[in-house]
Amino acid sequence: MFKYDGLKKILFMFDPETAHTLGEFSLRVLPFLRSINNYMTARNFIRSDDLKQEIFGVTFENPVGLGAGFDKNATMVKAMPALGFGFTEIGTMTPKPQEGNAKPRLFRHPEQKTLQNAMGFNNEGSFVVAKNLKKVFPADIPVGANIGKNKSTPQEHALSDYKILINRFKEISDYLVINISSPNTPNLRDLQNEAFITELFTMAKSLTHKPVLLKIAPDMEAKVAIELCKTAVKSGAAGIIATNTTIDYSLVPHPKSIGGLSGEVLAQKSYELFQAIAKELYGKTVLISVGGISNAEEAYKRLKAGASLVQCYTGLIFEGPGMVREINLGLLKLMHKDGFKNIKDVIGSDLKK
Ligand code: FNR
Repeated sequence: MFKYDGLKKILFMFDPETAHTLGEFSLRVLPFLRSINNYMTARNFIRSDDLKQEIFGVTFENPVGLGAGFDKNATMVKAMPALGFGFTEIGTMTPKPQEGNAKPRLFRHPEQKTLQNAMGFNNEGSFVVAKNLKKVFPADIPVGANIGKNKSTPQEHALSDYKILINRFKEISDYLVINISSPNTPNLRDLQNEAFITELFTMAKSLTHKPVLLKIAPDMEAKVAIELCKTAVKSGAAGIIATNTTIDYSLVPHPKSIGGLSGEVLAQKSYELFQAIAKELYGKTVLISVGGISNAEEAYKRLKAGASLVQCYTGLIFEGPGMVREINLGLLKLMHKDGFKNIKDVIGSDLKK
């Protein structure tokens, strides 16, 4: 059986961004290597009626998806079933191409299985990303399109950036995500206010029938986050994704002074905010939990707290390509042990006690 440890040692000899470029190259090539791709998909992509769900009228074979930011330009969509992912989220893309922040802007905290990134929405721009996506959509798994404003767009014109992006991606994605929670675009998180969210989702609703979700930051007080999420749902949001990375640098011993933390140190903070939101919104909208999930126990905890789906990013870097398989197999074991037949019975079960 393939062991990630050796490959990880090699990848970790490179700086994190170069390692990502190597990973991206491999995953772009993988679908062309038919027999390897088929072998990996057969092994890693867990199909079970017990994990299958219909959400937004789309079939999710399993509840574990790739978090946004890994596949910013929609170049790796076809390889994701080989890693076992039940869905993927591309982006964040901006209307115009953007270089992102100065390098170095991605750092590892290996002892804490944590990343710190200050990428700043580096992407090839919505035109090129849409072109890439058109080649693979509809894909074998659901694809979300995560969208954000350009750094150069003034706050007062942010709405028009989101309008361009919704129109560009509404026909070539299964769901859209509005990202106003990255810590790496100056003042972006200021858009996490009730007035803007109302305007944004009212506009989104008028542009498309596709589900549009809101992704939020973990650094707000729970009360504020809940009110924002409620406002979003009232204005037409189809779901909430919680959370993005945190700027709480006290979570690692040697933080860099820029960017947001993801991975193991984010897990508790992300879970607590998710749980608070789910207490208010479970059953009223679709909830997706992300932040520090890298094993079945953590994923199971999020499902029980009310998540219909979970996402992972940093876990993939530290645990490797077998992680999603392990999570899904582990989920089946945990739910059957607790007497749940189907994943639908697990979701929100903590809230029904
Ligand atoms: C991210 N994340 C992210 N999120 C988003 O909505 N748009 C983006 O462009 C990015 N970019 C990005 C780059 C890098 C290098 C990382 C590590 C993360 C956040 C990501 O989707 C997720 O919300 C957090 O990383 C928390 O999940 P994990 O990584 O702890 O599983």
